[in-house]
Amino acid sequence: MTTHTHTPRTPRSLGTTGPEVFPLGLGCMGMSALYGEADRAASIATIHAALDAGVTLLDTGDFYGMGHNELLINEALRTAPAAARERALTSVKFGALRTVEGAFTGYDGRPEAVKNFLAYSLQRLGRDHIDIYRIARVDPDVPIEETVGAIAEAVQAGHVRHVGLSEVGADTLRRAAAVTPISDLQIEYSLISRGIEREILPTARELGIGVTAYGVLSRGLISGHFSRDRLLAPGDFRGMSPRFQGENLHRNLELVEALRKVAEARGVSVAQTAIAWVLSRGEDIVPLVGARRRDRLAEALGALDVTLGPEELAAVEQAVPEGSAAGARYPEAQMAHLDSEH
Ligand SMILES: NC(=O)c1ccc[n+]([C@@H]2O[C@H](COP(=O)([O-])OP(=O)(O)OC[C@H]3O[C@@H](n4cnc5c(N)ncnc54)[C@H](OP(=O)(O)O)[C@@H]3O)[C@@H](O)[C@H]2O)c1
Repeated sequence: MTTHTHTPRTPRSLGTTGPEVFPLGLGCMGMSALYGEADRAASIATIHAALDAGVTLLDTGDFYGMGHNELLINEALRTAPAAARERALTSVKFGALRTVEGAFTGYDGRPEAVKNFLAYSLQRLGRDHIDIYRIARVDPDVPIEETVGAIAEAVQAGHVRHVGLSEVGADTLRRAAAVTPISDLQIEYSLISRGIEREILPTARELGIGVTAYGVLSRGLISGHFSRDRLLAPGDFRGMSPRFQGENLHRNLELVEALRKVAEARGVSVAQTAIAWVLSRGEDIVPLVGARRRDRLAEALGALDVTLGPEELAAVEQAVPEGSAAGARYPEAQMAHLDSEH
């Protein structure tokens, strides 16, 4: 057991300039897109339960269901108790260009596009400001200085509170931070996606930028609930993700079984162990959990009560050694959009 003065629910600061948030955020993507059908009533109930438990940070993207996710959050906040609604913080990604059929065709980070995306998001969310605003992927045709500069202007105008980044590398972090304070970098980080530890995380720390970690359960793969025979709906991201394919899936689920032994010895679930591991990596890291049902949310929140001691952390990392995942974290075409992987 580690001893520290913080309780498991002590808020964490997003960098030196960002807001204080409950130590777990709720990622709302799967309630509208990418993981097959979602149940609207269950989604709203999950957001309400999260707010009720103290969760403050709600993460979305304007392209999650092409506006669907923001409208869902709007409804959830409108129907939540006033105090919870006022405590809630919205983190919104923008910039993805899409077709009617839902294909992703690129990213637009031009300043005039930033302002346009923002105007639509505020309307859909029914809020007069967004707490953290970030481009989902760097637009290779627009210098990052211009994109974050436009968000900084929106901060000045009172429409946005903080500037964030998503899936960028160390160099882009430095360039953006030279223009305006950056609250947090949103990036994939889990037992099986530890790439940020080499350069990106140390740079974020040097610059006083927090991390909102997504995919802490690797999209359910290391949640302990995924199985080889799970049928995925057409369009489910996981049906295209290298880590969920054939032999890769088999090998990755073997890692999960090794992790299950460690979790069982501690008397907690696999998902709780995976989330607790990310929580243990630093007070400047806030995991975003993608729960879309109340039972999954309750399980994820339980991770806050799991402080892994040095021996347990060693056992976890022995079960899932660094670099042991089979397959890349995105399909090849999408890897190309990741500034963080260049
Ligand atoms: N910046 C970016 O590029 C980026 C990319 C992706 C996501 N994000 C953000 O990060 C958020 C989280 O990402 P994610 O949804 O991929 O993360 P995740 O938490 O790794 O995966 C969520 C999925 O895991 C499964 N799961 C099983 N047990 C769970 C539990 N106890 N708690 C939560 N989920 C459980 C659920 O799938 P089933 O319901 O199918 O069982 C759920 O849909 C997203 O909602 C989004 O806001 C950002």
